[in-house]
Amino acid sequence: MQSHRSVKEEIKQVADIVQAIGQFVQLKKAGRNFTGLCPFHAEKDPSFNVSPDRQMFHCFGCKKGGDIFAFWMEYHGLTFPEALKDLADRYNVQIPDRFSPSEEKKRSRLRETLLKINESAAQYFQRALTKGGRGNPAADYLKKRGITGDIISEFRLGWAPDSWDGITGYLRRQDTDMERAAKAGLIVNRKGGGYYDRFRGRIMFPIINLRGQVVGFGGRVLDDSLPKYLNTPETPVFHKGEFPYGLNASFRAIREKGTAVIVEGYMDLLALRRHGLDQVVATLGTALTPQHIRRIKGYAREALVVFDSDEAGIEAALRSLPLFLNEGLPARAVVLPEGHDPDSFVNREGLPRFMELLNRASPMFDFFLEQKLSRSGTDIEEKVRVLKEILPALSQLHNEAQRTLYAGRVSERIGIKEEVVLSELNSFRRNRSENTLERNLKGRVGRTETDKKIGDIQLLNLLVHHPGTVEALRDSGCGALISNRTVSKAVAYIFHKQEENGPVSLEGLVGDVEDEDVRIQLREVMLAESIYPEQEVDQAVMEIMEKARQKRLSDSVKEIRDDPEALNDLLLKLRDRNRC
Ligand code: GTP
Ligand code: MN
Repeated sequence: MQSHRSVKEEIKQVADIVQAIGQFVQLKKAGRNFTGLCPFHAEKDPSFNVSPDRQMFHCFGCKKGGDIFAFWMEYHGLTFPEALKDLADRYNVQIPDRFSPSEEKKRSRLRETLLKINESAAQYFQRALTKGGRGNPAADYLKKRGITGDIISEFRLGWAPDSWDGITGYLRRQDTDMERAAKAGLIVNRKGGGYYDRFRGRIMFPIINLRGQVVGFGGRVLDDSLPKYLNTPETPVFHKGEFPYGLNASFRAIREKGTAVIVEGYMDLLALRRHGLDQVVATLGTALTPQHIRRIKGYAREALVVFDSDEAGIEAALRSLPLFLNEGLPARAVVLPEGHDPDSFVNREGLPRFMELLNRASPMFDFFLEQKLSRSGTDIEEKVRVLKEILPALSQLHNEAQRTLYAGRVSERIGIKEEVVLSELNSFRRNRSENTLERNLKGRVGRTETDKKIGDIQLLNLLVHHPGTVEALRDSGCGALISNRTVSKAVAYIFHKQEENGPVSLEGLVGDVEDEDVRIQLREVMLAESIYPEQEVDQAVMEIMEKARQKRLSDSVKEIRDDPEALNDLLLKLRDRNRC
């Protein structure tokens, strides 16, 4: 019978981790590995590494890492069985039923069921929109708003008829588990028992993830009633603010153009798409989140964020600056003329005019600065407050010339001396950067001259990159040379495994190591370059063995210091040894 492990192995044989991760993260070749901006934490410099040789990934910043399954689970928020199934489908590997642990299995089953129900509902809404042809109020409404048939089918728009028992009746006729349908947010429990439709008389916008699955819906009324939009509540498959609307349809265009245009609403996105601007996503009325940006930066080199010109729009723009700086995605702000949103603007003025606005957009920082300054008063306290608000943003600019330039502008605009701005800025940067510096140094195991001195990491590196040395070093007692506990455990683990199974490949094992720190340590060494070139390996092994011998000796000297006879024996032994 085919085991769990063998399915996993089979997937690993056919799937390439660089290609798989490369769909979601922009990777660049760097030596033998690929690097990119980590999709799991905020960062500006790439510390996310993918190794084609070892088929694993590791982030030196947040320490997340592992094999293709670990990535799939973390990125898509899946349990192991779900990731296994998803990847098996993708790479055409057969999996037998019945092998996942029950808790995880229950969770994946639930999610799978909710996705199926969502899919079936999406189809129901789609059919309801095309039914009745002209005279269908939803079809008329979309037409009036300039949405074409192509857009309707590409985005799978639908219509939830104005009824309490539309989707409810439909799902019941399909023999759907109604409690599950309620969990999916499509129907609501009635107080006296039974269910009713959550979405009534609304245009339906399915929210589709990068795997093509319908995770939730937005629904818009046809008139002025409230709420104008209703979204699926939080469910096991839908989390608000996690996923930008439309990315599934736009990611190719975004990657091609290098730019993502970010708008707020469903209709804004659809209108722009209709006019031929494909590289667009929408945040659905919530503020931009780090999760949004992390998804987007997997495809875009720059974001163009379109804001309304009203107070709320400007506030949103100001709040987004630190997010973009933290995530390392350059961004520009586009502010529309008063009273417009992208939908109304592009429909009235056409795409070329909209593109002009995009082209004139100012970098988010400039926008931030101008806004802050134009809003502040003139007394000293106001000025200091503005400076305090600006410094954190300013300090995050990579380029020193640029920083100085901005500091100059700040000084000019606020009327605080440039030296003062600069020295405040520098002290802010010093305090901040000490932490980052330390973190960066800690994580990286590079190959420098001082590294060649044999220490903990060097020993581990040798064992990992030159497995031929394991046998010789195992019996040398070199474990006693190690001072770092994690490294010591990692080395012990390698020795133990080899003793048990003979020569082993670490790639297959590291995922099974229970101690998280040890797992991280092993991954980091596996991803680091080999410190010793082939011709220096024997020399290194000999040095280590010699050091281990001396350590043993000095330890035994310590032990027998108070035993003159034993000490004498030892000294004699040493003399003999040195003679030959
Ligand atoms: P249209 O009137 O259809 O053009 O909508 P809009 O996109 O112009 O609406 P608006 O600018 O008011 O809102 C932008 C986005 O915020 C919408 O696309 C929705 O995703 C979201 N939104 C707006 N109103 C509501 C609401 O009442 N409830 C919820 N949950 N979201 C809303
Ligand atoms: Mn609108």
